[in-house]
Amino acid sequence: MIRFESVSKRFLDGDVERTVLRRYSFEVSDGTTVSLVGPSGSGKTTVLNLIAGLDVADSGDVLVELNGVTLSLKGMSSAARARYRRQSIGYIFQFFNLIPTLTVAENVRLPLELTGRRDLEAEALSRLDALGLAGREDSFPEQLSGGEQQRVAIARALAHRPAIILADEPTGNLDAENAGRVVDLLCEQAAAAGATLVLATHSEFVAGHAHQRLDLQR
Ligand SMILES: Nc1ncnc2c1ncn2[C@@H]1O[C@H](COP(=O)(O)OP(=O)(O)OP(=O)(O)O)[C@@H](O)[C@H]1O
Ligand SMILES: [Mg+2]
Repeated sequence: MIRFESVSKRFLDGDVERTVLRRYSFEVSDGTTVSLVGPSGSGKTTVLNLIAGLDVADSGDVLVELNGVTLSLKGMSSAARARYRRQSIGYIFQFFNLIPTLTVAENVRLPLELTGRRDLEAEALSRLDALGLAGREDSFPEQLSGGEQQRVAIARALAHRPAIILADEPTGNLDAENAGRVVDLLCEQAAAAGATLVLATHSEFVAGHAHQRLDLQR
């Protein structure tokens, strides 16, 4: 379960304070797929960052229940939040954030090294085939197209079987065929793992795959 309780988030834009989320509340049950839809600047990435504990609410709280334990992301130390993120979150960033000095296979293995789950390595690397990246294991990110990098980011996010998968515009750089394949794969993997999937997207096609829809306004 992920629950936003009256979450407010403001950013300083020069001297001007801009409120992105104002007492925003919602709840997502375990194992569901949720789309997060809204115009550019409405706060989709901000919501994902709050769920990941990369950012903290100014007021209100984000609660995440994992294995029967409810975590208050606001109340946790930053070290505890980092641990939560490493173990429980798979994040496909809007701009991928692949490590440029690591190959495709090394990027995908990274979460397994961080969590000590070497046993998942074969499964994680075989996912590259399903994502149409067979034979690209030893390439470096800069040798790949934007769409290929995005699919590596997906393989990396799923590697450690996280309870929560956050996907920020996961099909933004893909053609229609690959977009369909990627959304199906994300939904399938999430369902198979019983994971909760939150998809931030501008695409009605992607949003239509989700069980639940959250609309953000500017
Ligand atoms: N670290 C930050 N510092 C200052 N302003 C920020 C920061 N992060 C986000 N914002 C502002 O908050 C607003 C929401 O940003 P966010 O990235 O969440 O939007 P978004 O819905 O993901 O947009 P897009 O569809 O373009 O990705 C924007 O106006 C942005 O400028
Ligand atoms: Mg965004």
